[in-house]
Amino acid sequence: MKDSSLALPIVDTALEERLRSRLEQVETELLGHVQSEAGFVTEAARHLLTAGGKRFRPLLVLLAAETGNPDADGVVTSACVVELTHLASLYHDDVMDEADLRRGAESANARWDNHVAILTGDFLFSKSSELTAELGAEAVRIQARTFTRLVEGQILETLGPGPDDDPLQHYLRVVAGKTGSLIATSARYGARFAGAPLEVEEALTEYGEKVGVAFQLSDDILDIASESAESGKTPGTDLREGVPTLPVLIARKSTDPGDARLHELLDGDLSDTARHAEALGLLRDHQALAEARRYVLGLTADAKKLLKVLPDGPVREALEGFADVVAERTA
Ligand code: IPE
Ligand code: IPE
Ligand code: MG
Ligand code: MG
Repeated sequence: MKDSSLALPIVDTALEERLRSRLEQVETELLGHVQSEAGFVTEAARHLLTAGGKRFRPLLVLLAAETGNPDADGVVTSACVVELTHLASLYHDDVMDEADLRRGAESANARWDNHVAILTGDFLFSKSSELTAELGAEAVRIQARTFTRLVEGQILETLGPGPDDDPLQHYLRVVAGKTGSLIATSARYGARFAGAPLEVEEALTEYGEKVGVAFQLSDDILDIASESAESGKTPGTDLREGVPTLPVLIARKSTDPGDARLHELLDGDLSDTARHAEALGLLRDHQALAEARRYVLGLTADAKKLLKVLPDGPVREALEGFADVVAERTA
């Protein structure tokens, strides 16, 4: 089970208490939403739900809802929608990435097989759609558009850049689709269902998009820099799967002769254990990691500027803090 600590430092105790109690409500409702008449489906869907996870997207819904009336109908439901959509995408993503560790537990494809993982992901997407229908036609439209972008991002990543594409621009497009889209929608739903003014909803959507891209880029840095005990995933997975993430794209551009061996490794087969370990070691010591971190900091700084539509106070501070947590998780 989740503990009730928030993945976010909050100075205002009343705000913290409200977020904590609503997040608990989200947690309880999520357990109900993954129930199926078929016992095995419930077991497979619960597997990653209860394994852990930061609940970053529902937390953003709840935080964005503080710009209006956070008790309004639809706030908690939309927080469940975004986590269910995210959870579903993890089942599918681990099949695509042949990952065996997720949220510190065996991935569904490793625990069972690809068929179970794909169908459980489909089940969770359906559950999230059913729930979105309770929020009205506009929410369904937003959800469908979000899901389209997420899937397009995942497909574009699989395809890789075309001959005329700049690899870095291609990757930023992938990231905006696969991750920025749902985090933007999380912020949008919060503001929208809390009845915040349209101007706030739009600014928060843009903020969510930038924070979402920064979040994925931080994750890509962690894939190289962290140990699995911290991330709950196997480090170097992107590298092994040949997904060229931001630090790799930066390192590839270097003309330093000292990078010749790294370039040779990156151009070759990294499914080989020794070559993979050597490439990971070289990247961990490479200045490309610091440069990637600077890029993330730039994005979160831009995201925070969008919050100027909000009055000064604990809610704006917490949203600024949320962007800082994303930037600092790789520090
Ligand atoms: C993992 O997302 C996939 C990415 C978009 C990087 P999270 O890092 O939010 O995963 P959980 O929910 O905490 O497991
Ligand atoms: C995460 O993709 C994006 C989605 C699940 C849509 P990644 O493959 O980059 O994320 P991790 O590292 O497996 O969490
Ligand atoms: Mg993955
Ligand atoms: Mg992936």
